[in-house]
Amino acid sequence: MSKEYLPGSVFVSPSEAFVETPSIKKVMDRAISYLKANIPVHLTGPTGTGKSTLAMHLAYKLKQPVMLLFGDEEFGTSDLVGDKMGYRKSKLVDNFIHSVMKTEEDVSHRWVDNRLTTACKEGFTLIYDEFNRSRPEANNALLSVLEEGILTIPPSEEEGGYIKVHPNFRIIFTSNPYEYSGVHKTQDALLDRMVSIHLDYFDEMTERAIVETRTGVTAEDAMKIVGILRDFRLMTSSTQAISIRAGIIIGKILKQRNMRIERANLLLADICADALISGRHTSDAREKMRRVVIELIHKHLQDEPVAHLADYDEQETEHRLEALI
Ligand SMILES: Nc1ncnc2c1ncn2[C@@H]1O[C@H](COP(=O)(O)OP(=O)(O)OP(=O)(O)O)[C@@H](O)[C@H]1O
Ligand SMILES: [Mg+2]
Repeated sequence: MSKEYLPGSVFVSPSEAFVETPSIKKVMDRAISYLKANIPVHLTGPTGTGKSTLAMHLAYKLKQPVMLLFGDEEFGTSDLVGDKMGYRKSKLVDNFIHSVMKTEEDVSHRWVDNRLTTACKEGFTLIYDEFNRSRPEANNALLSVLEEGILTIPPSEEEGGYIKVHPNFRIIFTSNPYEYSGVHKTQDALLDRMVSIHLDYFDEMTERAIVETRTGVTAEDAMKIVGILRDFRLMTSSTQAISIRAGIIIGKILKQRNMRIERANLLLADICADALISGRHTSDAREKMRRVVIELIHKHLQDEPVAHLADYDEQETEHRLEALI
């Protein structure tokens, strides 16, 4: 899919499964304009709204090698910029006494660039995924990069304490807003230097297209899966966040088992319940939610009443399990 260009960097190839519906095209169009104008783009929104996937696709459009960086609580500035590591060994050959060859260990440490430094120097596209997971101090080095096009690094023999950012350097940030994941409140100075595009759950057309393309189920089945998923999301929005990932899981399993969504059965109910109900609920709540899932299956299949599910043949399950193992 992608080929390595420099250690830690990749050339991003287009993903064939990337869906571009009108709503995604609209966001892409704006994001590309900002990036071309050298304005950093920040994709923010709840989990599973396509931030990382879109960031990769935008990076592909920029046609430069890509560096990926994932925000981390443990990060310090050196994780972004670089650090002194190891010793430089230099051989000293005494020209007067040929038989004497000394190896001297240089006291100064060797400077090792990290991803931000490499991307700034080489003009790569840096994707800083979930950047707000890092502590704000760790991200301070970015302020002057974004504002003045200068990266400050500790002075060394090669560089005098700063490097000028390459004109092709671009940066795409992603984050889950503070209230969704409880990570650090992002510092305002950094946010002020980028354009934030808010993403929300995809529209219905896009969700159907993603389920169909990512799993290979028919358009008709993708429509039913997404119908169930969207209704369930609405009904449980106060207690859990359900993204398109649940729809992709249902689609993948149906495809793997060669199942169409034609009749409601217990297996289908179980698969939908497993994918849609978050693991954080108590068993009572799960049971209630499972009943809701079953009702929604019937609604979207325009099938017979719920009691019909009792007909599900257990032997069939065993048979299918054997085939899978
Ligand atoms: N445009 C798209 N075309 C096809 N699949 C997509 C598209 N956007 C998102 N997806 C799929 O939807 C799922 C969620 O997308 P992604 O991982 O990008 O979300 P995210 O917002 O980064 O989530 P998180 O906040 O949890 O990191 C993935 O399986 C991804 O492959
Ligand atoms: Mg992501």
